[in-house]
Amino acid sequence: MKDVIEALEAKREEARQGGGAARIERQHAKGKLSARERIEVLLDEGSFEEYDMFVEHQCSDFGMDEQKIPGDGVVTGQGTINGRLVYVFSKDFTVFGGSLSKTHAAKIVKVQKAAVMNGAPVVGIFDAGGARIQEGVDSLAGYADIFMENVLSSGVIPQISVIMGPCAGGDVYSPALTDFIFMVKDTSYMYVTGPDVVKTVTNEEVTHESLGGASVHAAKSGVVDGAFENDIEALVQMRRLIDFLPGSNREDPPVRTVYDSAERVEDSLDTLIPPNPNSPYDMRELIEKVADEGDFFEISPKFGANILCGFGRIEGSTVGFVANQPMTLAGVLDIDASRKASRFVRFCDCFNIPVVTFVDVPGFMPGTKQEYGGLIKHGAKLLFAYAEATVPKVTVITRKAYGGAYDVMSSKHLRGDVNYAWPTAEIAVMGAKGAVEIIFRKDLGDEEKIAAHTKMYEDNFANPYVAARKGYIDDIIMPHSTRRRIAKSLRALANKQLENPWKKHDNIPL
Ligand code: HXC
Repeated sequence: MKDVIEALEAKREEARQGGGAARIERQHAKGKLSARERIEVLLDEGSFEEYDMFVEHQCSDFGMDEQKIPGDGVVTGQGTINGRLVYVFSKDFTVFGGSLSKTHAAKIVKVQKAAVMNGAPVVGIFDAGGARIQEGVDSLAGYADIFMENVLSSGVIPQISVIMGPCAGGDVYSPALTDFIFMVKDTSYMYVTGPDVVKTVTNEEVTHESLGGASVHAAKSGVVDGAFENDIEALVQMRRLIDFLPGSNREDPPVRTVYDSAERVEDSLDTLIPPNPNSPYDMRELIEKVADEGDFFEISPKFGANILCGFGRIEGSTVGFVANQPMTLAGVLDIDASRKASRFVRFCDCFNIPVVTFVDVPGFMPGTKQEYGGLIKHGAKLLFAYAEATVPKVTVITRKAYGGAYDVMSSKHLRGDVNYAWPTAEIAVMGAKGAVEIIFRKDLGDEEKIAAHTKMYEDNFANPYVAARKGYIDDIIMPHSTRRRIAKSLRALANKQLENPWKKHDNIPL
């Protein structure tokens, strides 16, 4: 018996070594952890249950039958994060560059299926060279099997991808199908085709970083939702993110014990809005003062920075915050902001997370760049996302809510459940200047008359009372009581029941 046990332990130890000590050392020298070390940081200590440690590839071409490494380039299994179940796969770059074979894919599909069945998120860690070239079409088939599971799991369980090394070719599309992607600065990159192919096809000279580094995807393309300094920071932040999310669409988001009273009053919010209506202020401050303990997990902070999206809690329950950010482009809605926020609102709606929206929006961004880029369709995405969402929706207009952007930002007309305005709100078709220049065009040049018209417009139209008189705003609230009023609304909405008409699926303007 002792021999048998020792033989098992020896086999396990061989599998744990992956591609061997020298290759693990090379990982470390690049500032990266190994696949197993990453899982250790991500999961609660001692909670990891590994599956398929002894799986080997079945390829015999190119002498591959002579090169078999147990585990076949990916470590898979389940464990817990702060006591809650998650499934995980972590690509092992030390084994054939983490490349994907048929058996490697089958290991990933196994955890994907288990996660759906048992209602738990999947975290995928990527560090790989794409398709296992020796396996040819079997590798392509393996990718498609994973993609299929990604699609079937979408909206059922949260799926999170963390890019911690190369992620190219076939490897990019599984992350792209998941809910959130994060990268590690400097050591990770993501692209469909690498710099050599780019040079051949387009004659462009690019580096890995300038083509697909974190600086590109977290700020320019919007492909990823955040970038971290190193592996450890990224994994610790994933633990924090998972804490906000339910295991599946079959459950409510987790409730955490908090020591921050819902009655907390924030007097400083009464002076958040500057006297000059065109001066910016930091909307993040409002979110942090409203959320429990000021805890806000921001999604895509560097992309579409004119809108803030992220998770926080009110009375211990997760909420999704969406807020125009006057500090960037005056909080205007453009293509990037619309794409970012619509995806976030849809995520919240999939996973029973109420949406709290703070509005200070001068409208949609004008210009050929935006129109040629399809602002109409992208803006419609956000409108669609808010309109179809059946989760509780609480909206607070702090200052500007002009034109179509007023409608879009979780207005009463899109089934906003509770819509508040601060006394500083200006709810109108447009700002006073623009309105007066159109309505009183004949008086342009007469400064006195224009000033009088502007004052009349501001007094009569650029305020929250017109909308409140019509019931489009449920109440005008004091800024300092915003947290208390939102908490009360969410409590009332806790058992909200609302269903959209049956359909196979909708046809959101993609
Ligand atoms: C098999 C691979 C591999 C692959 C790397 N390796 N990529 N083995 N298939 N795709 C192996 C290497 O042979 C090497 O083995 C080890 O992994 C480490 O690779 P290095 O090149 O030494 O590492 P590094 O210098 O860090 O470069 C990493 C890399 C490079 C940039 C990822 O390896 C690379 O360019 N790989 C090929 C990428 C690629 O073209 N993939 C196919 C994409 S097409 P040893 O034994 O020396 O340690 C695709 C289509 C799928 O994915 C579409 C599905 C929808």
